[in-house]
Amino acid sequence: MDTLTLTRPDDCHLHLRDGPALAAVLGDSARRFARAVVMPNLRPPLTTVAAAQAYRERILAALPAGSDFEPLMTLYLTEATPARELEAAKAAGMVGVKLYPAGATTHSDAGVRRVEAIYPQLETMQAIDLPLLVHGEVTDPAVDVFDREAVFIERHLAPLVARFPGLRVVLEHITTREGVAFVRAARPGVAATITPQHLSMNRGALFEGGLRPHHYCLPVLKREEHRAAVLAAALSGDPKFFLGTDSAPHPRGDKHSACGCAGIYSAHAGIELYAEAFEQAGALDRLEAFASHHGADFYRLPRNTGTLTLRRAPQAVPESLPFGDDRLVPLRAGGQLAWRLVE
Ligand code: DOR
Ligand code: ZN
Repeated sequence: MDTLTLTRPDDCHLHLRDGPALAAVLGDSARRFARAVVMPNLRPPLTTVAAAQAYRERILAALPAGSDFEPLMTLYLTEATPARELEAAKAAGMVGVKLYPAGATTHSDAGVRRVEAIYPQLETMQAIDLPLLVHGEVTDPAVDVFDREAVFIERHLAPLVARFPGLRVVLEHITTREGVAFVRAARPGVAATITPQHLSMNRGALFEGGLRPHHYCLPVLKREEHRAAVLAAALSGDPKFFLGTDSAPHPRGDKHSACGCAGIYSAHAGIELYAEAFEQAGALDRLEAFASHHGADFYRLPRNTGTLTLRRAPQAVPESLPFGDDRLVPLRAGGQLAWRLVE
């Protein structure tokens, strides 16, 4: 089989940034995905519906001519988010509310300091059926960075999911065996996104022949046993697991720094990387459900009607891409991809 045609996929976790950076990266996603769940961690964060709607307009204005790509907007949750903002988000068609523990990752400083403090907001979200999207890592400096997801699940997520039995929850970018096990065993309405890097790389990729800043993201890559568990979840056919690239572009200068930013740019190969991983596992026939059905079903959106075709043909990945007045180093820079898009 040298070509693969899928229902057009959705990227259920994407960072598009703003301004010249947005203009530089948006086409990569729009060529591959019909829709994307767009993260709200801009500066300032999108804590109001008005800010999110204005951002949506900037995304639509930056789309390549003729593109029908649809950004699905999310709200940035704070301990001060009023119920009326959540109700307005639901009414405006926003698809979820993102919980960033304060200090956990890029632009999370306005996030949540104490998970219990947002229980009133979660009550409202449960009542109006507005999903909660979770960056699931504790920030407790006493917890080892490689254990932060597992500890978050135990300390915060398990109690939250039990306390709000009607709340739909996505544990974003799962990276561990514990994350997979939690979601698999959880009640209906609990799901997880999976990135291409956490499927295909373990933490060895951070130190391959030297320090590799372009393999640094949060949650950080984990041991091989965790990568294997995440891959198995993606391949399992379980509708609780779906595609979310977490493509998170940073200027090369901010990655090549004494305190390099977290984030991997993967939108240039946002479906090709998954095709490669599924094919290597002998499960290419499972890709369509993971990429094009499970996310739409979770978000209660119609599945896309168009298709996307990939051809098995090696494709070189450039060393860097234009990115405003800097450059952007994509995942697999200088290497090759096994599949390419048929436009
Ligand atoms: O690596 C990451 N980059 N993880 C996140 O949670 C945020 C993202 C970003 O916005 O750069
Ligand atoms: Zn993210």
